[in-house]
Parts: sequence; C-alpha cells; structure tokens
Amino acid sequence: MRVELDNLSKSWDGVVGADRITLDIADGDLVAFLGPSGCGKTTTLLMVAGIYKPTGGTISFDGRVVNEVAPKDRGIGMVFQSYALYPHMTVFGNISYPLRIQKVNKGEIRERVQRVADMMGIGDLLDRNIAQLSGGQQQRVSLGRALVKEPQLLLFDEPLSNLDARLRLSMRGEIKRLQDGLGITSIYVTHDQVEAMTMADKIAVMSKGVLQAYDVPEDLYDRPKTLFVAGFVGNPPMNFFDVEIMRTDGDFRAKSGAIDLVLPADRAEKAAAAKGKVIMGIRPEDVDLVDDSAPAGEGLTLTGEITVVEPLGREDLLGVGINGVDMHVLVDKARGVRVGDSVDFVFNTSRVQFFDPETELSFLWA
Ligand SMILES: Nc1ncnc2c1ncn2[C@@H]1O[C@H](COP(=O)(O)OP(=O)(O)O)[C@@H](O)[C@H]1O
Ligand SMILES: [Mg+2]
Repeated sequence: MRVELDNLSKSWDGVVGADRITLDIADGDLVAFLGPSGCGKTTTLLMVAGIYKPTGGTISFDGRVVNEVAPKDRGIGMVFQSYALYPHMTVFGNISYPLRIQKVNKGEIRERVQRVADMMGIGDLLDRNIAQLSGGQQQRVSLGRALVKEPQLLLFDEPLSNLDARLRLSMRGEIKRLQDGLGITSIYVTHDQVEAMTMADKIAVMSKGVLQAYDVPEDLYDRPKTLFVAGFVGNPPMNFFDVEIMRTDGDFRAKSGAIDLVLPADRAEKAAAAKGKVIMGIRPEDVDLVDDSAPAGEGLTLTGEITVVEPLGREDLLGVGINGVDMHVLVDKARGVRVGDSVDFVFNTSRVQFFDPETELSFLWA
C-alpha cells in the first residue's frame, strides 16, 4: 500500500507535535522516522494510525484520503515498545485476540495463529502464559498479534528499546527479513540511527516537529542537506569548523584562526561564493594520523594536540584540539599516541561538507 502524508500537522494549544509533514511512502517500503525524543515521531505515527486526529493536512492510502476512517478500518497492525500484551492470556489468546474481536471462525483462527506463530519461531509456545516468556519472545508475540490481521500497513514505535543490545541486533534483522518477505509497507519509529540506517529503505529525519530530510540512508550520511542532519546522523558526530573560503593562486582554501586547508574545487566552489563565514564539516573517519606509511599531500594536513584516547575495540577514538577547536578523529590504530602529544593529521578533503550558518542548508546538496 502506498502512503502519502501531505502537510500533516498536529498541535495542542500552542504545543506543536508535528508541523506540515509531507512525504510519500512507496508500496512495500520500510520507512524510518528518526529523531531525538520529542521531535514528533510518535505523534505522526498515531495520526497515520487514526488514534490522533490531525489539526491540518491529509493522510492517503493508495490515493484515498483516510482522515475520517476509524483506526480499526485502516488495515494497520501496530507494534509498540511496551508490548501491551494481555498478561492474563496465553500466547494463543494474545495473538488470536484481534481475530476473535472480528468474530473470525474458530478453525480459521487456529490456522492463522499457528501460521503466524511458526513464522515468528514461537509456534510451540502457544499455550504458555505471557509472564513465562523472555522479552524477545514477548516482542515476537506482539509482532504476531499485529501480523495475524494481515495488515496493509505495519506501524512500529520503538519496538526494540526494551531489549538488550544483542537481542536488539538479532530482532532488527528478523523484523527486516519478515517485512521484506511479506512486502508489507511499514513505518518504523526509532531514535536509534543505527536501527534506522540498517533497516530502512528511506529515512525521515525529524526535529521539533519538522521534517528535516527524507532520503535513502547513504544520502543522509554522505550528502546531508542540512546542518542538523549532518550533526545528528553519524556516531561520533561530524566535526564542524567556522571557516572562510579563500581563493589564492587558483587554490581554494578553508581558513580560520585554527585551520588552513586546501580544498578540491568541486566541494568548495559554491561555498566560496558565499560572503563571510561558512560551516565546514568533516566526519571523524575522514581524518587520519599522518605517518611514514601514509604521507599526505601539501596543504591537506593540520597539527593538533591529543586530548583523549578512547579505545573502542576495532578502532580508536581520539579527541584532538586544533588551536583551541575540538575535533573527534576515528583511526584504525592510535599507533601509540598519548594525551598531550602533538600530532599531524591528514584530512580527506574530498569528503568535506559546507553549510550556510544562517539557513543551515548545505551548499552542496540542498
Ligand atoms: N497528547 C499530547 N498532548 C500534548 N502534547 C503532546 C501530546 N503528545 C505529544 N505531545 C507533544 O508533542 C511533541 C512530540 O511528541 P512525540 O511525538 O511523542 O515525540 P517522539 O515520539 O518523537 O519522542 C512533544 O513536545 C510532546 O510533548
Ligand atoms: Mg515517541
């Protein structure tokens, strides 16, 4: 089912939940709503579900406006963070509940519940009480209860937040496989960018009720349209510097009190047209230590002082001060550098970003 939100808004006397959200979800896609707590993800989801009534705009399913359609008639299945299971019922009782409400006949209920439970890997737990299940099993029951209605649209609201890290990882793969296999259009609310990046076909990034970007994951990461998206997507976050772009002897250079770097023309040209300061962004993994094995070209290195060395296992995260400006650098191996060392860093300037400090829009992609 195709889902379209057109200027969808919700507010409660003065409090804005969602502000003119406009986006299109293709049939069979999984779209993530991503953003910090309070940015309007749940509000928007609940409007799609029909639980919140919009104060403006429309929701359409396959081209038909559904604003006035009751939640139970929208063909949706919902999965929440709190499993919202009936604790006094068995697994069978919980999964079959929506079908019993619809007065589906007993034989068909048996069959559909068994099929969904088998698909979720809980087919042999149907007679168990909810209290006897692990968190992961409970979340499977709650997913089974959403699926048994054979919905046209699945709505997830932070479904994995209560699970431990390891289980989250496996459940996220499981949900994605299931959703892909069944081809059910889905909206997946999360504040966890890794979840969004790994599961979603497209990601809607929200901040303060406003849609900031709606893009495929790799574009959000490599071609962020706004300063907010650049800073929110990626961990550790992108480094930002206030610079002026100068053109000397045909070279573009980013200059400030702290830095002086030569830039490739295709990245710098548009930002150079701006008068005054611009914001330059570079990701921690696009800066590296200079050593004999990796000599750097002239104008691509800066010297900084190590302020923090954090071993992350596979990589090391360095805190670096460059003439008073802080920066994070992610390196494969810290190669014995210590706090207080003065070290040369090479910048992969083919990946720098530039933003307008006034509008916070990208000079490259907005
Ligand atoms: N029922 C409500 N009444 C009043 N304000 C609400 C209600 N639901 C949400 N809000 C407000 O709307 C904003 C967005 O909330 P929400 O959609 O729950 O954010 P998220 O799910 O992204 O964490 C918040 O400021 C929140 O306080
Ligand atoms: Mg929420």
